Amino acid sequence: MPHLLSLIREDVANVVEHDPAAKSSLEVFLCYSGLHAVWFYRMNHWLWNHGLFLVARMLSQAARFLTGIEIHPAAKIGRRLFIDHGHGVVIGETAIVGDDVTLYQGVTLGGTGKEHGKRHPTIEDNVVVGGGAKILGNIIVGKNCRIGAGSVVLRNVPENSTVVGVPGHIIFREGKRVVITDPKQINDPLSEALAAVATEVNKLRERVQQLEGSGTQGEPPSESMQRIMEDIDYQI
Ligand SMILES: CC(C)(COP(=O)(O)OP(=O)(O)OC[C@H]1O[C@@H](n2cnc3c(N)ncnc32)[C@H](O)[C@@H]1OP(=O)(O)O)[C@@H](O)C(=O)NCCC(=O)NCCS
Repeated sequence: MPHLLSLIREDVANVVEHDPAAKSSLEVFLCYSGLHAVWFYRMNHWLWNHGLFLVARMLSQAARFLTGIEIHPAAKIGRRLFIDHGHGVVIGETAIVGDDVTLYQGVTLGGTGKEHGKRHPTIEDNVVVGGGAKILGNIIVGKNCRIGAGSVVLRNVPENSTVVGVPGHIIFREGKRVVITDPKQINDPLSEALAAVATEVNKLRERVQQLEGSGTQGEPPSESMQRIMEDIDYQI
């Protein structure tokens, strides 16, 4: 709390530096409701840590009414959190957010409803979470990750990865394209069906090669398949 003013100055400077839409420090201070929500949270977290649970909860609800952003006072949030646009963001009680994290509107750092104790995610430093993304459960999103707009992330994400989709899967890791060769890894309800079709295609390819004679290589892969194969830097 005693540092609140210096944290406010730091938050404003951070937004002026990184948001191309920001025209002045005064505009950021007055108009960025994502920052207002974080400043409310800092105060409420202090109250919570000093045993004033009900007051902290009531003020966090007031902040939600004013900003459309709900941050539980018990959540642990690092420095320079930037909630851009912000409406609909929810940060749960046991969530942990590192430094220099950006969340867009509609992001949920929530529970799955099946866990107790630590049941919300840990978001490490320098992560960007796209609009509407849901990160659910006691999972860890590693440093420098980017979570695509609209993704639903249910499993740990290693550092320096980009995740998209429902359920979320990694498309880039350490700057390299990731191609999932085992359909089960995509964790999709259709995985079983895809795996069965892939197995069947492989059997048919082998059978065709046998019928054509063991020396022949068969048809070359299609153009789209070739493009995918050329793109592959990293397989999981
Ligand atoms: C995930 C994200 C960071 C990836 O950006 P990138 O590294 O430039 O990746 P690309 O745009 O090259 O996309 C790579 C692949 O992922 C797909 N993809 C990208 N974003 C996606 C998303 N949110 N959901 C599903 N698929 C997505 C692309 O279609 C592309 O697929 P392809 O290779 O089969 O064509 C970005 O697309 C994103 O969602 N950013 C969030 C931005 C946001 O929320 N802004 C709110 C402003 S108000």
